[in-house]
Amino acid sequence: MLAISDLHVGYARNRALVEQFPAGARGDWLIVAGDVGERFADIEWALGLLAGRYERVVWVPGNHELWSHRTDPLTARGEERYQLLVRMCRRLGVVTPEDPYPTWAGPAGPVTVAPLFIGYDYSFLPEGATTKEEGLAEAVRTGIVCTDERHLYPDPYPSREDWCWARVALTESRLAAELDPARPTVLVNHYPLIREPTRILRYPQFAQWCGTVKTADWHTRFNVAAVVYGHLHIPRVTWHDGVRFEEVSIGYPREWERRRARFGSTRQPGLPWRVWPALTPATTSMPPGAPVGLRG
Ligand SMILES: [Fe+2]
Ligand SMILES: [Fe+2]
Repeated sequence: MLAISDLHVGYARNRALVEQFPAGARGDWLIVAGDVGERFADIEWALGLLAGRYERVVWVPGNHELWSHRTDPLTARGEERYQLLVRMCRRLGVVTPEDPYPTWAGPAGPVTVAPLFIGYDYSFLPEGATTKEEGLAEAVRTGIVCTDERHLYPDPYPSREDWCWARVALTESRLAAELDPARPTVLVNHYPLIREPTRILRYPQFAQWCGTVKTADWHTRFNVAAVVYGHLHIPRVTWHDGVRFEEVSIGYPREWERRRARFGSTRQPGLPWRVWPALTPATTSMPPGAPVGLRG
């Protein structure tokens, strides 16, 4: 099973990169952990292309898919936009967080893949801040404000954090009810579910747009074999409480091109890589190549 995220196909160079993805081997699934693009037609193009190259594609939304950007003819906002993305995925045969969790029968035994749509609620506060208001004030003061504030609408929820909390409640009960505790699970979300991976950010105040403290123990509660996420644009493997966390993003052209130049062919940045069965940590670890982009 392979994974990739943050394709950002609005960039011509990323679009060309995705066009050149090798087809999966027989039986390969591809996890796409969000930020495929911003415009609905771009997202549909990329997921359609990938659905033709892998036995199954599993997608979760990133913040960019949820933008209602002025350049997108589709003007739907928030939950309505998300549901239109889900409907488009169903047309393409792509699995979404709204579908039953599928089980992949690979050579290392069956593993359930749980695609999640959990956003952020500004609870990864910057140092010294005790409330969301204080955290955001610090972000404004230092000029590190996520572009979501302009383009990501939570309609019909009153705020992005209300939308996030509704998803947390819904998802937590689904995981408890639907997962087989005897079978390993791969959790997939655009954000890392725990705060630790965000500690590496060049601008720590950006962590406010990277997750929620409400999912801090999920990787220890559901027989989780791995957590696959993106958004940070810092592809690497870290371990938390004995669980492997894989950041699988491509990022913007300047980011993956710089990594390619630096790391050569050992683990090609900008291509899907295997998350199950696990590669050994020694070959999967990749030092951070670049600071996170401000738009995640
Ligand atoms: Fe993102
Ligand atoms: Fe991204």
